[in-house]
Amino acid sequence: MDFKVTPWEVEGIIDYQKLIEEFGTTTIDEGMLRRIEKDFGELHLFLRRKIFFSHRDFDIILNRIEKNQKYALYTGRGPSGHTHLGHIMPWIFTKYLQDKTKANLYFQMTDDEKFLHKRDLTLEKTHTFAYENALDVIALGFDPEKTFIFSDIDYAKTLYNIAIKVAKRVTFSTAKAVFGFENSTNIGMIFYPSIQAAPCFLPSILEKEKMPVLIPAAIDQDPYWRITRDVAEKIGYHKPTAIHCILLPSLQGASGKMSASDPDSAIFTVDTEEDVKRKIKNAFTGGKMSLKEQREYGGNPEICSVFQYLHYLFEVDDLKIEERKKGCLNGNVMCGECKIYLTEKILTFLKEHQKRREKARDILENFLLKD
Ligand code: TRP
Repeated sequence: MDFKVTPWEVEGIIDYQKLIEEFGTTTIDEGMLRRIEKDFGELHLFLRRKIFFSHRDFDIILNRIEKNQKYALYTGRGPSGHTHLGHIMPWIFTKYLQDKTKANLYFQMTDDEKFLHKRDLTLEKTHTFAYENALDVIALGFDPEKTFIFSDIDYAKTLYNIAIKVAKRVTFSTAKAVFGFENSTNIGMIFYPSIQAAPCFLPSILEKEKMPVLIPAAIDQDPYWRITRDVAEKIGYHKPTAIHCILLPSLQGASGKMSASDPDSAIFTVDTEEDVKRKIKNAFTGGKMSLKEQREYGGNPEICSVFQYLHYLFEVDDLKIEERKKGCLNGNVMCGECKIYLTEKILTFLKEHQKRREKARDILENFLLKD
């Protein structure tokens, strides 16, 4: 395979169809889309554009929604730095699910994972970023009555009690096969998957009722759900269900996901106007070497990061995105024009988001679970 996707590393140009086969997940097909549309009264942009494209047992959650039965949402974030636009994609979708179904959301901040995984990150840093990132979650407008955010470090006692039950039933050889651990992997990382499994069962414990959980997340997190599903019923809970999205590509080219270690590969929620202008100006496009060539042969939106950003997040009008694509292909729309359009869209979003993010500091405590 000429690409690689693990929870910690993405290489090459991802073939999502192949990933569905490799991971053993299920495509969100037309039938399921029609069903969601009927249940929710509309299809979210991310479903229309196949940004959420795969699932595990999402139909079980739809059954419950249709019968007005409870379920819980679970998602999370590895706080290795500030939040970028790729991170908030699944959060926006999670908010949509909460709005539509009034489900409780449990949000895990894995300060432990990022400390263990990143050589240069101290625990103090990841712990601080856990709460900085939480501001971005809150800024998206989640219901304070129904949203519970926790840092693994500050909620360790509760999580540990669940995690050891998972850990006891996962062998090292399974963990090696699923996550690619090696002899040189530190033993913290080998235990860690049981900590990320724990919130799948947390709602059942806190709400004192066996509760199915739906996890909206990027598909790179799926290996965790695979091992969690294997042990769930053995320890008395429902298997977690999942709905998967693609990874937002880097601004520097269509391959791989954005990375906090390369600041210009992504737009961060704390970026200034100058940052955004510079990053979009330098972004990789599908344009030709000269304007003349582009007019003659057209550009290539498939590989263009500017087009992808519009398609995935910022051009919500289906007709307009089609027109832009055609305009690019037939050489009428130049890269500069798309860049200016995208920059404006991002700046509008960030201005509002940053205001809400600052306000979130005052209400942060209301969202937190701690031991
Ligand atoms: N491991 C994830 C990351 O590095 C963080 C995470 C924890 C998560 N629990 C999750 C992501 C549940 C999605 C869903 O970002």
